[in-house]
Amino acid sequence: MRRTSSILSTGAYLPSRVLANAELEKMVETTNEWILSRTGIRERRIADEGEFTSDMGARAAEQAIELGGIDPKSIDLIICATCTPDTIFPSTACHIQHKIGATRAAAFDIQAACSGFLYALVTADQFISSGVYQTILVIGAEKLSSIVNWQDRNTCVLFGDGAGAVILQHRPGARGVLSFDLGADGAQTEILSIPAGGCRVPLTPEVLDQRLQFIQMSGKEVFKYAVNAMNRSAEESLEKAGCKPEQIRWFIPHQANQRIVDAVAQRMNVGLEHFVINLDRYGNTSAACMPIALHETNMAGKLDRGDLLLMVSFGGGLTWASTVLEW
Ligand code: ACO
Repeated sequence: MRRTSSILSTGAYLPSRVLANAELEKMVETTNEWILSRTGIRERRIADEGEFTSDMGARAAEQAIELGGIDPKSIDLIICATCTPDTIFPSTACHIQHKIGATRAAAFDIQAACSGFLYALVTADQFISSGVYQTILVIGAEKLSSIVNWQDRNTCVLFGDGAGAVILQHRPGARGVLSFDLGADGAQTEILSIPAGGCRVPLTPEVLDQRLQFIQMSGKEVFKYAVNAMNRSAEESLEKAGCKPEQIRWFIPHQANQRIVDAVAQRMNVGLEHFVINLDRYGNTSAACMPIALHETNMAGKLDRGDLLLMVSFGGGLTWASTVLEW
């Protein structure tokens, strides 16, 4: 029988600075009404200048470690999902390993944009099911404010900063991760990307002037693709787990846009009351969305052992990911 992995504990960290839509009205040509009606976002959190992705990831990790009652030195592996690493290398996971004193842990990052946390969770599940590791810290952390073009109203209203974390372990008798689906369409790299900063378009004064180091997005195309991919992926994970949507207590979707969530819920024929939504308060925090939403649901006492959850995400790449897990 497969060795299962399940979530022992969760943690999250959100920077204290709130950037409300009203403030964005003073920065670009937009209105609270436009942002709210097109996206559902009211406000987002912005990290301090000297607060990095690894700082937020470490704070979320420390909370998960404390709530799980484990010693950081018992952690075998740290996987951090991020598209806003502190440095290109070393990995953000290495920075976090040092900050939390997890001196025994191997550490690496995973980059699948907004799908990154689920890619990381599924990777961790493989290490546990193979019997190689016992305790894995999985983090989603982002400082998206550092890659947003604050002069571009098409994108700057959408994103926020934050981090979430889970401790994954094999626990006898717990079923944990029941199924997953991961996917990518590399033919769609252009519709959501940061063109410069890699070896393809190195940073030069001209490139910086053109602001190519920031997120570029074809919103409408991304929107359409997101709804289809999230639905297909969710159905795939449900089928592999042998579950029907009505057996799922909580659907945790990627927190990009309320209209995307509405469309996914409608196609699945599931009421919105079964969906965890916090994008109104935090915007799209990319790889951090999933673990933050999971932690808030956990802290609100809305998770009982045995509950089934469906998590489904979508992001640059394009990538998508979903999992059905038993709490
Ligand atoms: N305020 C006012 N007007 C705006 C704003 C703004 N903030 N942003 C765009 N507009 C304008 C546009 O310029 C356009 O004007 P035009 O018709 O004169 O050209 C008009 O509003 C309509 O723009 P649309 O693109 O048609 O608006 P749409 O209804 O598609 O909503 C949005 C735009 C919110 C971006 C939507 O397309 C969306 O959410 N797409 C998906 C985004 C997403 O999920 N991204 C995931 C990123 S995940 C990752 O991997 C990082």
